[in-house]
Amino acid sequence: MRTHAILGLTIGLLALGIDAASIKHASGSHSTRQVNGEVIHKITDGLNRVVTPPGKPKLVLGQMAPKRKSRKSKSLHTSLYKQASSSYGTSTSTASAADPRITDTPGDLRAATAPKGTRNSLGMGQDPSPIALKNPNGTVSYFFPDSDFKNTALMRMSADLNEANRAPPQAIHTYGMIGTEAPDVAVWQGSQLIYTVSSTKDDKLRALTSDTDDPLGTWTSHGVITYRGQPAEGFDSHVFTHPNGKRYLLYSNHAAILIAEMSSPNTLAKKPKPIVSYVGQGGGPLSIFNCEAPATVLLPNKNGSTTVNLAFSTGDFRAADYQTRLMYQDGSLDPTVPHHWLIADEPMLRTDSSVSVYGPGSGGFFDCPSANGDANTLDAKCFAYGAFSQSSGEGNALFPTGNRRTIRVQHVDHDEHGVIEPMHVIATPVIT
Ligand SMILES: *[C@@H]1O[C@H](CO)[C@@H](O)[C@H](O)[C@H]1NC(C)=O
Ligand SMILES: *[C@@H]1O[C@H](CO)[C@@H](O)[C@H](O)[C@H]1NC(C)=O
Repeated sequence: MRTHAILGLTIGLLALGIDAASIKHASGSHSTRQVNGEVIHKITDGLNRVVTPPGKPKLVLGQMAPKRKSRKSKSLHTSLYKQASSSYGTSTSTASAADPRITDTPGDLRAATAPKGTRNSLGMGQDPSPIALKNPNGTVSYFFPDSDFKNTALMRMSADLNEANRAPPQAIHTYGMIGTEAPDVAVWQGSQLIYTVSSTKDDKLRALTSDTDDPLGTWTSHGVITYRGQPAEGFDSHVFTHPNGKRYLLYSNHAAILIAEMSSPNTLAKKPKPIVSYVGQGGGPLSIFNCEAPATVLLPNKNGSTTVNLAFSTGDFRAADYQTRLMYQDGSLDPTVPHHWLIADEPMLRTDSSVSVYGPGSGGFFDCPSANGDANTLDAKCFAYGAFSQSSGEGNALFPTGNRRTIRVQHVDHDEHGVIEPMHVIATPVIT
């Protein structure tokens, strides 16, 4: 997610409630015009990106998946989600994603489970992108990349999933003051890892590769990721290897998730292309409506194929309307073609007021033990994500609440085709 910093806000931008970090050293702009009596706001963040275009017709690239058959009869609340999700294709919905009614939960979601012994939450933080690695002696270590929003790329490690995100962070690389944000760690090739990190200062993406198979060992910096010499601009990078064997970079430019094949840790082989965009109505000028935080997991289809699941987050990360969406494709298809992806009708994870979990999103997939399995057997898939315990979320720049996100983890449940099912969010009795 694109976080906001308290320092560096200018009064004019404060009044607009724009995410401060992304415009810290730039001047934003705000213009309005009237269309059929409705005020249309255009807000740019100083990097000439429109960050909140309420009223703009919603754009979708890709196509909606067929609606799933409900396992139980549909609850009364389900229609609210249909309304919200149908806004992918049309601009007529009046129930904005910020509608508080969206906190109701349909009855046919898959149950939330976690590896045996998990004590959610896993502590403070945001944008988790953990990786679990097997040690030569058969034990498992969990690594959580982290950032200080200043100049450092960090890594935390523990053999205990409950402790890994709370373990003391170790610097793996020090940059200039780029405002490190939203790091992602993934396998580059063999046991070599790639670490990519966003910048709140220049909106560029940077890559590091591990020199050894130890994520706490030394890393080589490859600088900014470029296509034909031009930096890819955006944030929330995620690198993955597709079933076709090629590696891809996914990231967000606020409004869309973009994808490009990579030819090296810091070069893109092809021009980045948007594959999904969700511009919500977002609740007006105090809201930021982003489409961000791509994360992937490959799951087996019963017909022998591999399904690529791509989770992303939509909404205002400061608010309870934030949620995790899903798109997916068969591994035989080209992931850079938007219509080769199907967008799941229902969110993968959403707010559930009955367990006081609000705005679940900005997560990452990793291998983990099953609910009753051995701690050193990584036979399941997990998703770690951030959420609030308060419906008021973080507020915004004008009306901050002081609430913070904490990181939670739960298993990923999927159907026989390897498509992740909409799930309940896991209850989180430990707040910090
Ligand atoms: C297994 O290896 C890891 C990583 O080298 C080490 O931290 C851990 O203490 C070892 N555990 C045992 C039981 O040998
Ligand atoms: C497997 O099923 C998926 C749909 O679930 C389909 O897209 C794909 O083409 C199938 N692959 C094979 C090899 O049958």
